[in-house]
Amino acid sequence: MQTKILEIDESALKLSKQIILSGGAVAFPTETVYGLGANAFDTSAVENIFKIKGRPNDNPLIVHVHKDYDISTLVSDIPEYAKKLASSYLPGPLTMVYKSRGAVSSAVSCGLDTLAIRIPAHEGAQKFLKYLNLPIAAPSANVSKHVSPTQAEHVFNDLNGRIEVVLQGGRCNGGIESTVLDCTGEFPVILRSGLVTREMIEKVAGKCGEYVYKEGVAARSPGMKYKHYSPNCKTALFNFDEFEQALEEYKKQTEKGIAVCILCDNGTAERIVGAEILNLGKTEAEIAANLYSKLREGEQVADFIIAIAPEKQDGAMAGVMNRLKKACGSK
Ligand code: TXA
Ligand code: MG
Repeated sequence: MQTKILEIDESALKLSKQIILSGGAVAFPTETVYGLGANAFDTSAVENIFKIKGRPNDNPLIVHVHKDYDISTLVSDIPEYAKKLASSYLPGPLTMVYKSRGAVSSAVSCGLDTLAIRIPAHEGAQKFLKYLNLPIAAPSANVSKHVSPTQAEHVFNDLNGRIEVVLQGGRCNGGIESTVLDCTGEFPVILRSGLVTREMIEKVAGKCGEYVYKEGVAARSPGMKYKHYSPNCKTALFNFDEFEQALEEYKKQTEKGIAVCILCDNGTAERIVGAEILNLGKTEAEIAANLYSKLREGEQVADFIIAIAPEKQDGAMAGVMNRLKKACGSK
C-alpha cells in the first residue's frame, strides 16, 4: 500500500470516514503535531494503532473530539476548575484527563479508569472530527520513539505503506504536543508540559501542580517513562551557559570527520561562526514550532546533533526543554 497525502475536501473526508468505520487509521493535522486516528469505540482499531506505531501497550491514547461533542457521554466528575480552563483554552493544545465512563474501548486508556480528552483548534482537525462525529483515539503519527511529525511529509516518511491516508493540514503552528493535565483531583496537575503553560493554568484555576516522573515508581502518565522524540542520530544537549563546551564538542567531533550540526535559537546562532546550524528561530512560538522539524532536518544531514538550550526555560520554554531533554538527553 502506498500512502496518499490528500487535501481535506469532501472526497478525502468521505474516504477517511470509510477507513475509520471499517476499523482503519487515518493521519490528520492538529495545531500541535499530526495524529494517527482510529475509532475509539472499536477495540481492534485502537489496538491496530499501537501495532502501526510499534507503541508499547501500556501507554494510553488521547481521545480527540470536535468542539460541539458532548464529552459528558465519555467522562464524569468534571470539576469546576476544569470547566473554567476549558472555556478559556479550548479548542486548543490542552488535553484534560477525567474519570472515564467506560464508553470507549478500554484499549484507549490501557485499562486505566481515566480518559484523556483533547479538542484541537486546527481547522482541518475540526472538519475531520465533525465529519466523523466520533471520539477518535490518536497518538502522534510517528513511529514510536521517533520525533513527532509537524508536517504531512513527516508522517509519510515514518508511516508510508502502513496507512492509506494522511490528511494535508500544512505545518503545525504549535509544534510540540499538547499539555496533558490531570483533572481528577482537587486541583489540576500537569502530566506533560506544552503550550498551555503552568502560568496560564494557574491564572484560571488558581493552583496547578506538576508531576515529576521518578524511575521505579508507577507512572501517573505512562508515556513519561519512555524514551521519546529522538532523532535517528547521536545527540548531546548543553545548557545555555555551556556555550564554549558545546563549541569544543563540535570541533572535536568535526575533526574526527563526523558530520555535526548545532541546534539552537537565533540568539545563540548569531554568536557562532563557521559551523552548521539548525536555527530554531527568535520567538518562543517559533522555537516550539520549529523544534521537531529541525530535529528531523538534522538527522537527514548530520550524524551528530549538538543542542544548546535556550536561556529562558519557563512558560512555553518549559515544554520545549522537556522535549529537548528527551530528544537529546544530556551529555
Ligand atoms: O498534541 C497532542 O497531544 C498530540 C496530538 C496528535 O493531539 N497527541 C499526542 O499523543 O501527543 P501521544 O499518544 O503521543 O501522547 C499522549 C500522552 C502520553 O504521554 C500518555 O501517557 C498521556 O498522554 N495519556 C493519555 N491518556 C492518559 C490518561 N488516561 N492518564 C494519564 N496520561 C494519559
Ligand atoms: Mg507521541
